[in-house]
Amino acid sequence: MQGRSSFLIVANRLPVDRDGHAGWRRSPGGLVTAIAPVMQRRDGAWLGWHGAPDESLDPFDHDGMHLIPVPLSAAEVELYYEGFSNATLWPLYHDVVATPVYSRVLWDAYRTVNERFARAAADAAADGAVVWIQDYQLQLVPAMLRKLRPDLRIGFFLHIPFPPSELFTQLPWRREILEGLLGADLVGFQRPGGASNFIRLCRRQLGLQHQKHEIYRDGRVIRAEAFPISVDFGELDSLVREPHIVARAKEIRAELGDPEHVLLGVDRLDYTKGIGQRLKAFGELLADGAVNAGDAVFVQIATPSRERVEEYRRLRNDIELQVGRINGEQGLIGHQPVQYLHQSYERNELAALYLAADVMVVTPVRDGMNLVAKEYIACRHDLRGALVLSEFAGAADELRQAFLVNPYDVDGLKRAMIAGMRSTPHELARRMRSLRRRVATYNVDRWAGEFLQALETP
Ligand code: ADP
Ligand code: G6P
Repeated sequence: MQGRSSFLIVANRLPVDRDGHAGWRRSPGGLVTAIAPVMQRRDGAWLGWHGAPDESLDPFDHDGMHLIPVPLSAAEVELYYEGFSNATLWPLYHDVVATPVYSRVLWDAYRTVNERFARAAADAAADGAVVWIQDYQLQLVPAMLRKLRPDLRIGFFLHIPFPPSELFTQLPWRREILEGLLGADLVGFQRPGGASNFIRLCRRQLGLQHQKHEIYRDGRVIRAEAFPISVDFGELDSLVREPHIVARAKEIRAELGDPEHVLLGVDRLDYTKGIGQRLKAFGELLADGAVNAGDAVFVQIATPSRERVEEYRRLRNDIELQVGRINGEQGLIGHQPVQYLHQSYERNELAALYLAADVMVVTPVRDGMNLVAKEYIACRHDLRGALVLSEFAGAADELRQAFLVNPYDVDGLKRAMIAGMRSTPHELARRMRSLRRRVATYNVDRWAGEFLQALETP
């Protein structure tokens, strides 16, 4: 594709990143999972970093998408990406479950990189184009881009929670972030609570007038609303009906020793995901004798993530120690109750795992949405399988028929896992039918369609 685009996605990451020197692989996380199918159906361009430092690449096409790489130096990866994005904003926006780092050096790098993304977007967008900026790494881009290109229609979507005033106001650069976001015409959040936190902060910190979802500033109207993100239900639903996926699911169960219960966790290895809490609960079920070690396997897939950030290193050590303890104390010769895999998997293999699992355990201590929960539902057309879901995931607003839990309550977690393992097929089918109705209706196309319609209708 040549020339400038009338539809542009701007995200920290491209949907692919460098796979050694072998080529490209899909990059991790919910943002890419959600936006990639939307982009494949539209003619536009995606602007973002390709995951390697100190490397400038020309635009290229991949998997039906036109991609425009934005380079980051090694120092910017450290200060902007690992630093301000993932050691300051990520923990602050997730209820300070880890302590945020506040540093002016990190902030300066954040501003510099946001400016680079804004300039690249200004160069790539056609006259009057729709530009959709994604997530916490790029919150200054909307205002920077508006300054450069007032002709554009600018949307912003935050994939992670937007915190309440009590936490957000810790940020020394709170006004700058709010001003940055207000450059957009539409600011989207996962939950209504995020939108109202933002509106309230604009009033208190910037003294702006507002009414319902609208904020007024310099003669402009900025809308702030919730658009809960979702998955490509149809694609997953048909994928798991394919004979090779069904066969692989059976094979996985056989490889696990055909246990009575297969429990599954699938996450980036992130301290917000509550992996330690769920393993603790499972370990106690074995130790109590409520579940026999020979009858159950917990498969925990943990994608490597942000490995150079201190908190993530510590988490990896903690989880690996915990897995070793449970297997050491509760395992049998030839059988380890926790199968821990610190690896990334292809979509097909993940789909087969979802199909093979009796109980999907999703227990974040805070999560914007959690697409894994919705993917599991999309894969269970057989109406079997139980979803144990944290109340603190955005998905809990919609998925009321899951086995909802407070991940800090170990006994509650144990009860929910047991309920998932022991409910009758009739009860599981009743719940799954209702969950599937919801995810089938509010799929990713509807999410993007509603956001873009709101953005394009002034
Ligand atoms: P987050 O965006 O915080 O990573 P989500 O649950 O919203 O959390 O999205 C995670 C996405 O990454 C899902 O689409 C999931 O399928 C994918 N994913 C998670 N773990 C793996 C893995 N080990 N291999 C491949 N994809 C994974
Ligand atoms: C979450 C964030 C995304 C991010 C993804 C993977 O989904 O909302 O913005 O891309 O995690 O994290 P990473 O740091 O590897 O891009």
